[in-house]
Amino acid sequence: MKIILLGAPGAGKGTQAQFISGHLNIPQISTGDMLRAAVANKSDLGLKAKDLMEKGELVPDDLILDLVKDRINEDDCLNGFLFDGFPRTLDQAAALKDRDVEIDCVIEIMVNDEEIIQRMSGRRVHSASGRTYHILHNPPKKENIDDVTGEALIQRPDDNEETVKKRLAIYHEQTYPLVDFYKDLSNEKGSTSYIEINGVGGIDNIQSQIIDNIEKLK
Ligand code: AP5
Ligand code: MG
Repeated sequence: MKIILLGAPGAGKGTQAQFISGHLNIPQISTGDMLRAAVANKSDLGLKAKDLMEKGELVPDDLILDLVKDRINEDDCLNGFLFDGFPRTLDQAAALKDRDVEIDCVIEIMVNDEEIIQRMSGRRVHSASGRTYHILHNPPKKENIDDVTGEALIQRPDDNEETVKKRLAIYHEQTYPLVDFYKDLSNEKGSTSYIEINGVGGIDNIQSQIIDNIEKLK
């Protein structure tokens, strides 16, 4: 199955992607995680992306499309994949459609801006894997330590309130138009489903709603 997770920064895409990719045995493709790895490795892409990411701005479409094009051709994507944080401009979505990448389902996780601003200050991440926690809503077993590797958790440099507000503004301006793009595609093409999920509430409850909807498509 080929799935897109759509939603504002902090809507819970990464949190839910971990469960869905495990449930369906498909890889999670997070352009944000891939870019953070490039920044950590100081690769050409990382050097181009670092300042933009820290300011909360989008990385240019051509760089993102090169990254994704190569990733979806890898062997583990033969049975499908889960996009987390891609596409996030109309040009990225159009490029995917032009390349005949057939998406089975778009899942929109809906959360209001006030809730997101509150959530982000409590987020902690394991940088190597992208595993995500929240100090109150989804705490690690041991404070500030990743459950799987025992390594330290960090706060993302773009998670301060000012940058979160900027990311939200960019989301509304550049990414939100994808809601209509994919609703229209779903009306036009029965093969792409559009699912809306209320992303405010318990993480487990949201997970079950997503899995129930996916099971109905099988
Ligand atoms: P990216 O890493 O994709 O960040 P984002 O879209 O801003 O989303 P986040 O990762 O911040 O949020 P999320 O929805 O994954 O939420 P999470 O599950 O962590 O992108 C970073 C940057 O890279 C961009 O700003 C841009 O510069 C660049 N970039 C990436 N992709 C790009 C692209 N395609 N084009 C151009 N540029 C690109 O949850 C958030 C917190 O809330 C966590 O602490 C979590 O534990 C908690 N939480 C989750 N669910 C709940 C719940 N139900 N109740 C309470 N708390 C919850
Ligand atoms: Mg994320």
